[in-house]
Amino acid sequence: MTIKGKSILLGVSGGIAAYKAAAVCSKLAQAGAKVNVIMTESATKFLAPLTLQTLSRNRVVTDTFDEQDPAVVSHIDLADHADLVLIAPATANVIAKLAHGLADDMLSTTLLATTAPILVAPAMNVHMYAHPAVQANMDLLRRRGVRFLEPGEGQLACGYVGKGRLMEPEEIVAAVQAFFTPDRTLQGKRVLVTAGGTIERLDPVRYLTNDSSGKMGYALAEEARAMGAEVVLVSGPSALPVPAGVELVPVQSAEDMKTAVLDRLPALDLVIKAAAVADYRPEVTADQKIKKKDEVLTLRLVKNPDILQMVGERKQPGQLVIGFAAETENVAGYAMDKLVRKNCDLLVANDVSKDDAGFGTDTNIVTIFDKNGVVEELPVLAKQEVARRILKLAASRMSQPGGGTS
Ligand code: CTP
Repeated sequence: MTIKGKSILLGVSGGIAAYKAAAVCSKLAQAGAKVNVIMTESATKFLAPLTLQTLSRNRVVTDTFDEQDPAVVSHIDLADHADLVLIAPATANVIAKLAHGLADDMLSTTLLATTAPILVAPAMNVHMYAHPAVQANMDLLRRRGVRFLEPGEGQLACGYVGKGRLMEPEEIVAAVQAFFTPDRTLQGKRVLVTAGGTIERLDPVRYLTNDSSGKMGYALAEEARAMGAEVVLVSGPSALPVPAGVELVPVQSAEDMKTAVLDRLPALDLVIKAAAVADYRPEVTADQKIKKKDEVLTLRLVKNPDILQMVGERKQPGQLVIGFAAETENVAGYAMDKLVRKNCDLLVANDVSKDDAGFGTDTNIVTIFDKNGVVEELPVLAKQEVARRILKLAASRMSQPGGGTS
C-alpha cells in the first residue's frame, strides 16, 4: 500500500526548520498524496506560503477567518477530510497548544477539530526540547495516541549541538508511508494472549479478584490481529469489547485459564501472558452461600498454578513466550528474576505505583527485558502503542534463526 490518494494535512509551524517542510510537502505530493497545508503566522516568516502552494498544488491556509468557499467552514472541512495530520516542524508552542486545547489560530483550531491520527515532528533548541514543560506536554499527547517523530541530534540552527533537529524529510515521508502500510509481520502466526484478572470463588455469590481491567491484553490481541496473526484471547471477566476477528475464550479462575492455555500451547507460535492471575485461591469453594455466623471468619488460601512458568517449562523451539511483571519496587531486579524463573523470552515490566502505568489506565510505562537485560525502555504511551511496540519486537525475534527462544 502507498500514500497515493491519501489526504494529508500538513501543519507547518514557525521555526527555522520550516524550510524543510517544502521538501516534505514536495515528496508527499510526488508520492501521490493529496496535500493540504496550514501554516502558522510565524511559519510564513521563514517560508513563503506560495512555495507550499506550488508544491502541494493546493491553497495554503494561514488565517482562520479567510473563508474562500461559502459552502464550507474551512478548518472543519480540512479537519474532516484528512486521513492523517502531520505537523512538521512542530514548535514547542504548537505542541503546548495541542496538549492544552488552545485554538487561537488556524492550525491549532483545526487540530482540535480533527479526529484523524496525528503525527508530530518536533524541531527546537536542545534545551527547549529537554524542558520539563515540553516533555510533559509530549507525554500528555502520547497518552492520547499522538505519535512523535523524534528529532535527531546534531548541529542546531541556534548554534548548539544536541537533540532538537527536525527529522530529515526523507525519514518523515518514510514514517508517513509506514503509517499507511499495514504491518503484517505476524501473518500466519498463531498467537494466544491472556488478559484481565482471574476470579477465585468463595461461594456462588462471592469471589477474590484484582483490579486488572484487561486493557493491555485486549490491546495486544487487537494489534496482533491487525498484524495478521490468528489470535485467541483467554480472558478473565472484562467489560471491554472483544476485538474484531479475535477468538475469545472466557475464563474465570486461574485453573480455567491454565487449562485453556496449556490445551492450545502445542499449536502456538507466540504466547503473551498479560493476565493478572490470582496467586492464591480459597482452599474450599462453598456450594451454597456462606452464612454469617462468627465474629471472625478465617479464609484458607492455597497457591494457584503458575501458568507462565508451566508454559515456560513446556515451550518448544520456535515458540516465543512473553510474560508481564507488575511491580511496585525494584522493577528491574524482580523482572529479571521472573524472566529467568519462568523461562520467558521477553518480559514486560511496569511499575504499577506510577500514575500512568498499570491497572485500569489507558496508558502504560514499560521496560522490556530479555535474558541479557533491558531491550527497550518505553516512555508513557497509549496501551495500543505499547502493544504495537511489544508485538513488533516479538515479530522481529520470531524472524531470527532459532525463533529467539532461549
Ligand atoms: N502468572 C501466571 N500464573 C500465576 C501468576 C502469574 O501465569 N499464577 C504470570 C502473569 O500472567 C505474568 C507473570 O506471571 O505474565 C508475572 O505475574 P506477577 O503477578 O507479576 O508475578 P508472580 O509470579 O505472581 O510474582 P509476585 O506476585 O510475587 O510478584
